[in-house]
Amino acid sequence: MIGVRNGHPARARMVALGAYVPDEVVTNDDLAERIDTSDEWIVSRTGIRERRFAAPEEASSDLGIKAAEDVLANAGIDAVDIDTVILATTTPDHLFPSTGALVADAIGARNAAAYDLLTACTGFVYGLAQGVAAIEAGLARCVLVLGAEVMSRILDFDDRSTCVLFGDGAAGALLVAGDPDQTAGFMGFELGADGGRGRELIIEGGGGRLPLGEHPTGEACYLQMNGREVFKFATRAMVDSARELIDSLEMPIDEIDLLVPHQANVRIIDHAVERLEISPERVYNNLERYGNTSSASIPLALVEARDEGKLVPGSRVLMIGFGGGLSWGSAIGHYEPL
Ligand code: COA
Repeated sequence: MIGVRNGHPARARMVALGAYVPDEVVTNDDLAERIDTSDEWIVSRTGIRERRFAAPEEASSDLGIKAAEDVLANAGIDAVDIDTVILATTTPDHLFPSTGALVADAIGARNAAAYDLLTACTGFVYGLAQGVAAIEAGLARCVLVLGAEVMSRILDFDDRSTCVLFGDGAAGALLVAGDPDQTAGFMGFELGADGGRGRELIIEGGGGRLPLGEHPTGEACYLQMNGREVFKFATRAMVDSARELIDSLEMPIDEIDLLVPHQANVRIIDHAVERLEISPERVYNNLERYGNTSSASIPLALVEARDEGKLVPGSRVLMIGFGGGLSWGSAIGHYEPL
């Protein structure tokens, strides 16, 4: 990537979407054969009915490559034209090289800067903000923002309240520099983080504080969560973040065509929908089929909303993410396919 401010303002335009989910479907009944749970408990507490698990040889980059190829096929552009790949993930293949760099190489994005964004489930919204900022500052013209996850690798199947929630998948969006006179683009973002409550949702090991060489097994390798606290945080963060953004734009909520929230728990989403007073017909959910795919959940929902005709050219979308950090973020932007 070479970024040179050239004095010509551009507006970032979200022109294409794509996704990939692994083949293996794991139903709640499948999980009930492995752990002490039931379809009734999982559906009533979360809304999730099934999720996908990656094959043993598949890692986040493998899923990300297929999602990226789908984005490019939908955009009709060549990978050499991408100048930045931002890959949000909770489950990078390695600490480094970045999974973003591995995906960029595999798809032939040889002119791209590439990196990973570790903001857990809020990663896609953060990634959009960075991509939009890079384009509108004149530092990039074509940015691929992906979320790619193999959450099944970090689940502790001895912790039944957490392992039933997550699934694997990858999805993303392509942002390009558009003419400000012809592109509605993104209207704004609200992003935040509270590291003081970071331990409520954590993978403790594998970094510099708790190297896995010294602690190779046990719960430090797995996602640990205080479910009740995260539930309370999520319900509040979704509403506060979205409301702050909408209010600062002085935009009535009925000017939002579609709300695509992070797909963690249907009870969290229903609470936010009620508080935000947005009509439920304008809300897209697909978590019953995928569970929580972390950074992939919002773009995966965007793809399916598009395929079902609920996201159409020109749709104004409110996306709300929340997750580990603790972090949160909202974005309002338009879907404007080429
Ligand atoms: N199957 C059956 N029973 C289960 C269970 C499971 N998978 N998991 C927990 N239980 C049991 C508990 O052991 C507890 O039993 P007890 O009362 O005999 O002790 C009971 O169900 C209630 O547990 P509780 O933790 O109070 O359930 P809950 O209604 O708070 O739901 C979560 C638990 C995890 C579903 C909920 O807290 C949640 O969704 N939190 C947010 C998680 C999230 O979205 N995280 C990702 C953010 S990005």
